[in-house]
Amino acid sequence: MNKIDLYFTPAEVQDSDLADKLVIVIDVLRASTTAAVALANGAREIIPVASIDAAGELKQKLGKEHVLLCGERDGIKIEGFDLGNSPAEYEPKAVKDKALIFCSTNGSKAMLKGGQGVFCLVGGLVNLSEVLRFAVREQKDTAIICSGSGGKFSFEDAVTGGKYIAELEKKLGRELDKNDGARAALQLFRREETDLYAALRSSFHGKYLVTLGFEADIRASAQLDSVPVVPLFTGGRIVRHQPETVTAQ
Ligand code: MLT
Repeated sequence: MNKIDLYFTPAEVQDSDLADKLVIVIDVLRASTTAAVALANGAREIIPVASIDAAGELKQKLGKEHVLLCGERDGIKIEGFDLGNSPAEYEPKAVKDKALIFCSTNGSKAMLKGGQGVFCLVGGLVNLSEVLRFAVREQKDTAIICSGSGGKFSFEDAVTGGKYIAELEKKLGRELDKNDGARAALQLFRREETDLYAALRSSFHGKYLVTLGFEADIRASAQLDSVPVVPLFTGGRIVRHQPETVTAQ
């Protein structure tokens, strides 16, 4: 592992950028956090889809048993869906043994893009150390894809991406070769590291979530290593990685 690249939006990523890479997809507010919480609470799998129509079609195909439609538009549960995108909704009684068809505005699209890497992990602050443990074990050059917001830069994902880079270099005990995105995210993180909750809350999307009454989600999303699971995107679904079952795609 010599190189770490960071992309502020999925649109910046060319397919060739992901060849042979381990990819970490970040949507800290809130899709990454929700995915980690759902798997920790027993969801069988999360299937990201790019549109509401695709979600409905997949539900038709998979049938009603043990399948939930999940996701948001403008931060609010999609009409007719079972769950929105607040990690608080993904309690064991709601998600245990269920397949979750997941359609969020930015996160699920970034996950689909990241799925082109050799490995694709979904990372937030809540599962940072576990995700990095996986990355360090695999020793692959790594690409971080920030989900951004509507195709634009998002502060909270960039700060979180910078934290991933700082911690990865700390674990490895050496500096990695970084693209300009990775260098910029690391510098941004250094300015914000004393209070990541404040950084998330002060972002455009953070402030918007507060207006919707989701401040607790921001607090939950900022809780470092509180949900130590590795969401691994493989074969079109995100599953909880069990150390003995890992296979590159
Ligand atoms: C997204 O995918 O855009 C989000 O995670 C938005 C949110 O629900 O906060």
